[in-house]
Amino acid sequence: MSSSILVTGGAGFIGSALVRRLLLSTESNIVVLDALTYAGNLENLDGVIDGHRCRFLRGSITDTRLVETILQGEKFDGIINCAAESHVDRSIESAVPFIHTNVVGTQVLLDVARRQNVRRFLQMSTDEVYGDLPRNADAFRSTSPLAPSSPYSASKAAADLLVLAAHRTHGQDVVITRCSNNYGPRQFPEKFIPLMILNALEGRPLPVYGDGRQIRDWIHVDDHCEAVIRAYHDGDSGAVYTIGGDCERENIDVVHMILKATASASAVTHVTDRPGHDRRYAIDVSETATRLGWTPSIRFEDGLAETIEWYRTHQAWWTNVKSGDYRTYYERHYGSFHEGTL
Ligand code: NAD
Ligand code: TYD
Repeated sequence: MSSSILVTGGAGFIGSALVRRLLLSTESNIVVLDALTYAGNLENLDGVIDGHRCRFLRGSITDTRLVETILQGEKFDGIINCAAESHVDRSIESAVPFIHTNVVGTQVLLDVARRQNVRRFLQMSTDEVYGDLPRNADAFRSTSPLAPSSPYSASKAAADLLVLAAHRTHGQDVVITRCSNNYGPRQFPEKFIPLMILNALEGRPLPVYGDGRQIRDWIHVDDHCEAVIRAYHDGDSGAVYTIGGDCERENIDVVHMILKATASASAVTHVTDRPGHDRRYAIDVSETATRLGWTPSIRFEDGLAETIEWYRTHQAWWTNVKSGDYRTYYERHYGSFHEGTL
């Protein structure tokens, strides 16, 4: 019988896409551990949890006893850690939950995995650990220096260092993936692309931070997940793999693509910029392409059109998601700018 893989944060945007893909591409059973914070949603795993090949457990990666009980209960080949507080703007409002989950939670998983002889630990990290990339500079490579700008990216960089320390100190089998900005179905609409899609569909203003000329390197979530699965199976222990879409776009251009594709008459409104806002991220994928035989395959234009269609046809999903915490966050963050339009 094949051993299991523990996917933490599997009810989130990327984690749920990863679980789907793992079930198709491996023999392993999948156990999802997720705290179901505001960003976690069991609907993201609809039709996936069957209690046999794929099981769901609610709990926090910071809970040592719980993680120990889970890992003692059956043979785990590995852990893929996708659980995180993931939104930069929230980390600026309040950083402690980011330290708790992203830093302490990662260390808890590493420690228990080592005690329970789990073979491999994959840490899903981000290109944001490299900080702000000047316009004329070469794209980030795995060896680029860490220079995080936000509490979010600082917490992710701290976790990466703990993962590498576990490798060096304890000989633990670890792999780190650092990916650029993802988009695709089921992304929580506090993030740029789904927020803009939903505002465009609902005829509300599109809030662009500052001049909107910041650059992100967009990758479809399925391309990201495929690279993570290859890194999990074939990556060298102790290695860092950069993952990106080879698709640098200015935010304002993405906004105009969304307005055009939705035929929306919504206004673009430039709002106060994010403090410490990184102007550019870009990933050099050549090293990962050589080492893992992977390159991104989904054209941004196609992936964005498919994503817009997904949101258009899944109104029940986002109506549900946009109640509760989302509503209060949106009002707090964007203020009276959108008063009365939620
Ligand atoms: P997300 O916010 O959509 O999902 C995070 C999930 O983690 C949620 O289901 C949440 O309930 C869960 N979670 C939070 N705290 C937890 C805890 N203490 N214990 C257990 N579960 C907990 O995030 P995402 O966009 O899917 O990102 C997944 C991972 O990928 C994160 O580590 C993030 O840093 C990384 N990443 C994201 C992007 C991106 O563009 N979204 C890019 C590169 C890397
Ligand atoms: P985001 O999705 O928060 O990802 P990250 O900051 O982690 O890259 O934001 C992507 C880009 O979009 C970033 O440059 C900030 C910008 N942005 C806006 O202009 N308006 C918004 O309302 C949001 C949420 C983001």
